Amino acid sequence: MTRPTVLITGAGIGIGHATAKAFARAGYHVVVTDVLDEQGSETVAEIDNSGGSAEFHRLDVTDSARTDAVVALLEDRLGPLDCVVANAGIAKRVPIDRLSDQKWDETLEVNLKGVLRIIRAALPGMRQRGGGSIVAVSSISGFLGWSEHAHYNASKAGVMGLMRGLAVEVGCDGIRVNAVVPGLIRTAQSLSVEHSLGPEGLEKASAHIPLGRVGEPHDVADVILFLASDAARYITGQTLAVDGGLLVLQAS
Ligand code: NAI
Repeated sequence: MTRPTVLITGAGIGIGHATAKAFARAGYHVVVTDVLDEQGSETVAEIDNSGGSAEFHRLDVTDSARTDAVVALLEDRLGPLDCVVANAGIAKRVPIDRLSDQKWDETLEVNLKGVLRIIRAALPGMRQRGGGSIVAVSSISGFLGWSEHAHYNASKAGVMGLMRGLAVEVGCDGIRVNAVVPGLIRTAQSLSVEHSLGPEGLEKASAHIPLGRVGEPHDVADVILFLASDAARYITGQTLAVDGGLLVLQAS
């Protein structure tokens, strides 16, 4: 039996890495992509060593031509992708008085247009075959405000808008488009003292999370896998928070 295929952006570390392993365990052939060559190759080696199937391609999601080329190359060999996980993202702390066009573009190019690029490349193949599933990684920051991260907030809210529009546009082709909304997840991004909460900030925050702990990458990975799977066959255009209850917490 041929394996379904999934392409994941930013799959060398963090949530993307955990997602690659979750899909591999579920029997997918996993296309690991990232700008981190070493970590991307290590992810593939881990999957290979545990009996799964994967390959690595260097892919910077800010590069439209490269994105199109990687998808074309894969489709030639494997046929249309069954699933795309648009996960790659960056979070940089920039106060509004220093938020230049260049800084704004840097974040939007990766977090929002990067999501568009990979979906746009994969959609024609999925349409031709008459089905597919796309999961984009947004953030609770798409709903909430984060000081000195207004550009990040805008990018993650944008991902939700993009996903909703596409869900309506491609539903008739049998393609589902959903977003996961991670809360505070322990990865390089959140552990950065310069750009995010850092280790201490995360520990302090865990006291306010209803489920009592910071999330781990595999907590999000399992939900991405669910949204991609046939168990979610009637779900499209949705945002599913994986946040330990942060979004429904009322200040008291
Ligand atoms: P991470 O920093 O561990 O991983 C981000 C991945 O994206 C890395 O593999 C990185 O190389 C890749 N990446 C960055 N720029 C890229 C580019 N131009 N092209 C291709 N890949 C690129 O961070 P984490 O936490 O695993 O982030 C994954 C996604 O989850 C991101 O979209 C992030 O914004 C989102 N997220 C994370 C949260 C957290 O608490 N860690 C909370 C909410 C959302």
